[in-house]
Amino acid sequence: SQIPVIAIDGPTASGKGTVAAIVAEKLGFHYLDSGALYRLVALASEKQAIDPKNAPKLGVLAQNLQISFEKGQIILNGEVVTDVIRTESIGLKASAIAIYPEVRQALVGLQHRFRQIPGLVADGRDMASVIFPDAVLKVFLTATATARAERRYKQLIAKGIPAKLGDLLQDLQERDARDSSRGTAPLLVADGAKVLETSDLSIEQAVKTVLDWYQSAI
Ligand code: C5P
Repeated sequence: SQIPVIAIDGPTASGKGTVAAIVAEKLGFHYLDSGALYRLVALASEKQAIDPKNAPKLGVLAQNLQISFEKGQIILNGEVVTDVIRTESIGLKASAIAIYPEVRQALVGLQHRFRQIPGLVADGRDMASVIFPDAVLKVFLTATATARAERRYKQLIAKGIPAKLGDLLQDLQERDARDSSRGTAPLLVADGAKVLETSDLSIEQAVKTVLDWYQSAI
């Protein structure tokens, strides 16, 4: 496909979602939050009481997800779940079901369908390595665990979701370890990816860096 993709991968709460969404808006590109898809599978599996270790069943579930994205809202089986999928408990479940090749494979086509004119900014763990290996720009966006826990804390509190900093740090370290060590599509700095360390950068600075890199890449 000639349609340009900017792939932004990185660990939990690195700020990649925020940066990716702003970059997409500035370029007038579409935006894929691939983590939301894994979170949706986790939520749907919880609702249907599917054994979180039953990979084949989870794969079928992921294949048949009834989801839509409307005006910034995410709808699962007719229910608005935009905020529900953002909890830490769903995040942890998402990383647990994301280890299964059956689940990952079921979501490939759906992710590819986000690649539409005039372009796409995609954020996740394997955007550059697996889903869009021909991305025109690959960014690995990261920050220290402490900086990330603090960001996630502020995000949750701002949304009125109760949170404890120490628990968040522990959760994200657990999630990083699992995402980095799994056999299928582990979190890694893809071949040709540029690393953006954002612990000491503002959102604006991170966005500007990605936009500058994109201009140089095209
Ligand atoms: O990015 P986010 O924290 O919303 O993702 C939730 C979980 O989904 C991650 O911890 C990861 O295990 C999984 N995920 C993935 N591949 C992606 C995006 C997310 O495995 N492309």
